[in-house]
Amino acid sequence: MMKSEVRGSLDWTVQPPFLHPPYGSTVKRAPQKPLIPLAHTLSELTGPVYGADNIQPLDNDLTRNAVKNGEAIGERIIVAGRVLDEAGRPVPNALLEIWQANACGRYFHQVDRHDAPLDPNFLGAGRVLTDKNGAYRFTTIRPGAYPWRNHENAWRPAHIHFSVFGVNFLSRLVTQMYFPADPLLPLDPVLNGVPDEQGRQRLVSVYDHSLTQPEWALGYRFDIVVAGARHTPFETREA
Ligand SMILES: [Fe+2]
Repeated sequence: MMKSEVRGSLDWTVQPPFLHPPYGSTVKRAPQKPLIPLAHTLSELTGPVYGADNIQPLDNDLTRNAVKNGEAIGERIIVAGRVLDEAGRPVPNALLEIWQANACGRYFHQVDRHDAPLDPNFLGAGRVLTDKNGAYRFTTIRPGAYPWRNHENAWRPAHIHFSVFGVNFLSRLVTQMYFPADPLLPLDPVLNGVPDEQGRQRLVSVYDHSLTQPEWALGYRFDIVVAGARHTPFETREA
C-alpha cells in the first residue's frame, strides 16, 4: 500500500492529480509552478451566503423544472444520498448543484456539438439544500453517454456533475457521479484520474431498490464525504 501523501486536508493518493496526461485537457491547464497559498479574507469566509429562500420547490426535480410543452424524455431516476463530514456526521444546509447531459447524451449548451437530439423539456440542471440529516434528493433523467475528442473513439460514461458548497463559497467540492456496471467506466480517463480504486468506487452510485419508486423511477444512492479519510474524490481539476 502506498504511503499516504497528504497536502492540506486532502489525501493525494486518492485525489486526482492536476496533471493526468491520458485526460488531455489536464495537460493544458495543470499548473506548471507550485501553487501559492492565499490568505482568505473575512468576506470570503463569511459571505456571500445563500439560504432556503433561494431554492425553489421544483429545483431538485429536473424532470419538471424546465418543462415547456411536454414531459422530459428518458428513464426517470431518483438520486439521493447524504453529505457527511470526516466523522460521518451529517452536513446540513449544504448547497448541492447538479448538471448533466440529457437521455441522448447531449448538454443544453451551445458548445455541445454532439449530433444527438436536444430535449426541449429538459435543461439538465438542478439544485437543493441538504436537510438537517445531511440528506438530499433529486429526480432526474438518466443521462446518456456522449463522445468527446480526448482520444480515438472516446466516450464518457453516463455521469452527473455535482457541486457541493459547505459553510461558505470557498468550501466547494466538484465531482462526478457515475452509474454501476457501466462498461465505459474502466475506459474513462476522467474517472481513472483518481489513482485509487477505492476512491474511484466512491464516485460510482449504488442501485438502491428501496429508493426505487414503483411504476415511476429507479433509485440510485450517492453519499458525499467532504473531509477526512473517506473524502469523495474531486474530479480532475482546473487549477
Ligand atoms: Fe459531463
